[in-house]
Amino acid sequence: MELDEHVRGDNMTLKKIDDGIFWVGVNDWPLRDFHGLSVNGGSYNSYLLLGEKNILIDTVYEKYKEDLKKNIEEIIPINDLDFILLLHSENDHSSSLPFILQNAPKVKILCTKKCANFIKKLYQIPEEKINIIKDGDTIKFEDFSIKIYETPMVHWPDTTFAFIPEKQILFSTDFLGTQVVAEPLIIEDVSKIIEESRDYYTFLMRAYWEQALKGVDKVKELSPNIVAPSHGPILKGNAVKDMLSYYKKWCLNPETKKAIVAYVSMWKGTEKIAELLSEGLSKEDIPVKVIDLANTPFSEALSETLEASAVLLGTPTFVKGIHPLMYAFLTFLEIIKPNCKLGMAFGTYGWAGLGVKELNEKMKEIGIKIICEPLLINMTPDYNEKQEIIEKAKEIAKIIKNSF
Ligand code: FEO
Repeated sequence: MELDEHVRGDNMTLKKIDDGIFWVGVNDWPLRDFHGLSVNGGSYNSYLLLGEKNILIDTVYEKYKEDLKKNIEEIIPINDLDFILLLHSENDHSSSLPFILQNAPKVKILCTKKCANFIKKLYQIPEEKINIIKDGDTIKFEDFSIKIYETPMVHWPDTTFAFIPEKQILFSTDFLGTQVVAEPLIIEDVSKIIEESRDYYTFLMRAYWEQALKGVDKVKELSPNIVAPSHGPILKGNAVKDMLSYYKKWCLNPETKKAIVAYVSMWKGTEKIAELLSEGLSKEDIPVKVIDLANTPFSEALSETLEASAVLLGTPTFVKGIHPLMYAFLTFLEIIKPNCKLGMAFGTYGWAGLGVKELNEKMKEIGIKIICEPLLINMTPDYNEKQEIIEKAKEIAKIIKNSF
């Protein structure tokens, strides 16, 4: 059978990455919410390596287990599988394991001890089905070898890289991946997916940015020509180099002379303040992004915030405190470590301005450096207050400029 981009009966094509290496993953076209991350489709990448032993690298989300089986069986009978090399145990990559084991009884799972502990608990996989691998191991086959690198907390404790030196291909699990459909499957230019990649990084990797940076160094050391992640397109050539540069930038978080004005508004009073702050900052040549948190994915708002040097956050007083949506945003913001950004709280109130005061305290708690008193407006800004808000924004612009 010709296996190179061979047109299948159902008009799908086999996805060859290299001689004897195929993508047998699944595109999740309807996916819109990936455990909190807003997406427009996604993929669960699984790879089939043919040789002296046939190896499946990772499985797919259980919902698509039949598709995975079908994709494998386009190439080999599923019973011909020898091993599943599981690089990470999170459900989107592991939850088809029981199904595959049921259909391919001789299969053994190769995974690290940490990964084994997770899958034993998740799926009651018996000990005898698992062969433990560890950092520095080389799994040798007649045709090629797979080097194992444990990269703990480059996302999860069990995150593991697998590298085939003979082919310069690195399987990197979630690292350097993007939750988009893997179409096209292989890219050499990351520009079309980079915003989604950034949001994916922010949501999944940012909390452990120091480890992610070590991951960048590890990939640079291995210098692969192809990086095959567990979500989204496979990166090749310049796409590998460029994605590594972006990751480094996102990890080190160099702040730009840019302000974020993120708000929640119930009756447009807080929204009006946000717009006026933006107007004042823009007049002083500070690039500003206004974000309505009710209509912007948190992952996008968080990524934008990471890039800014100043964060102005607005809430109305909701009953007697911060609006719950702003509360949720602050929870995420704390997780991604805003690193002493300059900030100010603003907002409106009806009869007790408690929300903005509480917001001011919360911002301090999560490490934002408060640069001026909270801006608190009753109901909605009147003519005089509008001028005052613009003047306040100009003052803030000067502080931002002086911070560089
Ligand atoms: Fe895509 Fe951490 O799983």
